[in-house]
Formats: sequence, C-alpha cells, structure tokens
Amino acid sequence: MEFQTMSGPVRGLDDVSLGLRGGEFLVLVGRSGSGKTTALNVLAGLDTATSGEVSVLGQPPVAARPQLGYMFARDALLPWRTALKNVEFGLEVRGFAKSERRALARDYLDLVSLKRFADNYPSQLSQGQRQRVALARTWAPSPKILLMDEPFRRSTHRRVNRFTRSSCACGPLTRRALSS
Ligand SMILES: Nc1ncnc2c1ncn2[C@@H]1O[C@H](COP(=O)(O)OP(=O)(O)OP(=O)(O)O)[C@@H](O)[C@H]1O
Ligand SMILES: [Mg+2]
Repeated sequence: MEFQTMSGPVRGLDDVSLGLRGGEFLVLVGRSGSGKTTALNVLAGLDTATSGEVSVLGQPPVAARPQLGYMFARDALLPWRTALKNVEFGLEVRGFAKSERRALARDYLDLVSLKRFADNYPSQLSQGQRQRVALARTWAPSPKILLMDEPFRRSTHRRVNRFTRSSCACGPLTRRALSS
C-alpha cells in the first residue's frame, strides 16, 4: 500500500500476507508507523491496496463493509448526537428498525456501564467513556468481523476490557451473550 504525498510516495504497508478463518482472531503488533492502521483501513475498504489481493468474506473489502464493524483508534463520535444516538447510528446505517435500534443501543450502553450517560453529548463524556460509546456502537449491530484499532488504549474499565477480550476470542457479542 503506497500513499502519494507532497514529498513523494510513502510505503504504508509492504509484503503482508495473512489469512483468517471464521472464529479466529488476530492481533497486529508493531512499532509506530509500521502499518497496523493502514492494514485495518484496507480490510475495511477505506483505503485501496495499490497492489496485491484483498478479500474479505470472499468479496472485495468494499462489498463486505456492511458485515464489518470497525472501531477507530480515535473515537469518531458524532458531536451533535447523544451517547445513545451515537450507538443508534451504527444500527441506523445497517437498516435496523427504529424500535429495535433504541432497545439494542440501550443494552449495549448498559454493557459498557454508560446507561446513566445515555443523554450526554460526547463533549460531556470523559475520553474513556467516549471510547466505550464507540465500542458499544461497533458491537451493537453484531458484525461478522470486528476490526479494532487500539481498543484498550483509553480503557481502564475492567468489565469492558473483559468483554473486549472475550469478543476477540469468541466473536462479536450478541444480545443472547449480553443476557447470559
Ligand atoms: N493518509 C496517509 N498519507 C500518507 N502517508 C500515510 C497515510 N496514512 C498512513 N501513512 C503512512 O503509512 C505508514 C503506516 O502508518 P499507520 O498509520 O498504518 O501506522 P501504525 O502502525 O498504525 O502506527 P501507530 O502505532 O503509530 O498508530 C506511516 O509511515 C504513515 O506515515
Ligand atoms: Mg495506528
């Protein structure tokens, strides 16, 4: 993957080969600038590989995008929406019915211990709380594949870290998992 910049081409990622089967999880570890975020962006169809082949769920990444959940390293919440409405947003774009959206968003906010903050705007939340809203937004639609960029960076929240690790190990959380 090569980026064109004012000072010439920059190689974001080079000579990477990986394959994942259902139920597997993969952690990318590397020094700063080694291409971890670039790899996730390519898998999410946000950047296009300049050479090589990328297939996600047997399709080009852009086609697989509706089945992916991607939590960015920065939380990327919509500042004009409350925490609850931010979680609903992830469901809205995937076509969930309004009634289901509200209930699911509440469940997932509860999962990350933010029930009390449902009506707060992002500017009224701490960094860790914002990160947890972003996690809830990514998890709520139960995507087939979860991409997470530095999911533990801001989280010192034990319950969330436990759930994040278990979702890495077992696949995306489902409502059933939540109620068990
Ligand atoms: N949009 C872009 N335009 C130009 N160069 C870019 C762009 N995005 C990333 N790069 C370059 O690609 C390389 C890989 O960047 P990337 O963000 O993937 O690293 P990273 O492994 O995620 O680093 P970090 O751990 O610091 O987040 C870096 O050299 C970076 O400068
Ligand atoms: Mg990065």
